[in-house]
Amino acid sequence: MLTLPVSLLALLAERPKLAILTGAGVSAESGVPTFREAQHGLWAQFSPQELATPEAFANNPQRVWDWYRWRRELVQQGQPNAAHHSIAALAVQPSQCALVTQNVDGLLQRAGAVEVTELHGNLWRQRCAKTCGYVETVEQPGAGGPPPCPNCTAQLRPDVVWFGEALPEQALQDAMSAITQADMVIVAGTSNLVYPAASLPLQALKMGKTVVEINPEQTPLSSQADYFIATPASEALPAMQNSWLN
Ligand code: OAD
Repeated sequence: MLTLPVSLLALLAERPKLAILTGAGVSAESGVPTFREAQHGLWAQFSPQELATPEAFANNPQRVWDWYRWRRELVQQGQPNAAHHSIAALAVQPSQCALVTQNVDGLLQRAGAVEVTELHGNLWRQRCAKTCGYVETVEQPGAGGPPPCPNCTAQLRPDVVWFGEALPEQALQDAMSAITQADMVIVAGTSNLVYPAASLPLQALKMGKTVVEINPEQTPLSSQADYFIATPASEALPAMQNSWLN
C-alpha cells in the first residue's frame, strides 16, 4: 500500500475535520471518462459548444439528449471504485467529513455517501428546460428523445450545469461552508481548471487550512497545496482513510 508522508500521517491521526472536493479523475477507474485528459478526455473527442450549452440544447435537443444518454449508460456499466468507497466511509459522519463534488455520475452515492454537495448537478436527474421548476430522478438511461415536461409545454433537459450557466446557489454556499468548517481539505481527481469549483482549494489555502491534492498529474494547485500526492485516487484515499479512522 502507498506510504503517505510522515507529517501527513501525523496530522491525520489527530482526526482533523475534513472536506473532500472531487473531480472526474475519481471516477476514471470506474470507466467513466474524464474531460480534459489529452487522449481519452471527453473534450478531446466532443465539442462542449455542441453538447453542453443551453444553445446546443435549443438548436439540437436530440443530439444533446443522445450524448447524455450515452454518458448515463457508461456510468450504469461502471461500479464505484476504491476511491468512492473510501470517501463514503470517511463521510459516514457528515459533521466530521463533508463531501463536495463536481461529478454528475452519482457514484459517490452508489458507494453509500449520503450527503453530497453537487456543484454541477447530476446525470440521473432531469428538469424542465424552461422555468416551471419540474425536476425528476431517473434510474435508467432512457430511450428516445427529451421527454415532454409533465408540468408545462417545454421539454425536459439533463439537470446538469452547462457552460455559460451559473452553479446552483445553495450548492455553492454549502461548498464554501464545508471548506470554512474543515481543518483539512482533500482535493482529488480534478484538473482545478474550472471555476468557481477551482477557487475552493485556493480559498481554503487563504484560510490556513491544510490542503492535500491527489492527482497523478500536476495541476495549477499542485505547487501551492501543502501535500501533493501524485497517485491515483483509488490508492491515496484508502491510505488516508486508514490513517484518519485508526
Ligand atoms: P478534468 O477532466 O478536467 O480533470 C480530471 C483530472 O483527474 C485530471 O487532472 C487527471 O490528471 C486526474 N485523474 C485522472 N485519473 C485519475 C485517478 N485515477 N485518480 C486521481 N486523479 C485522476 O475533470 P474535472 O476537473 O472534474 O463540468 O472537470 C471539471 C468540470 O469540467 C467538470 O465537472 C465538467 C467539465 O467541463 C461540467 O460538465 C459543468
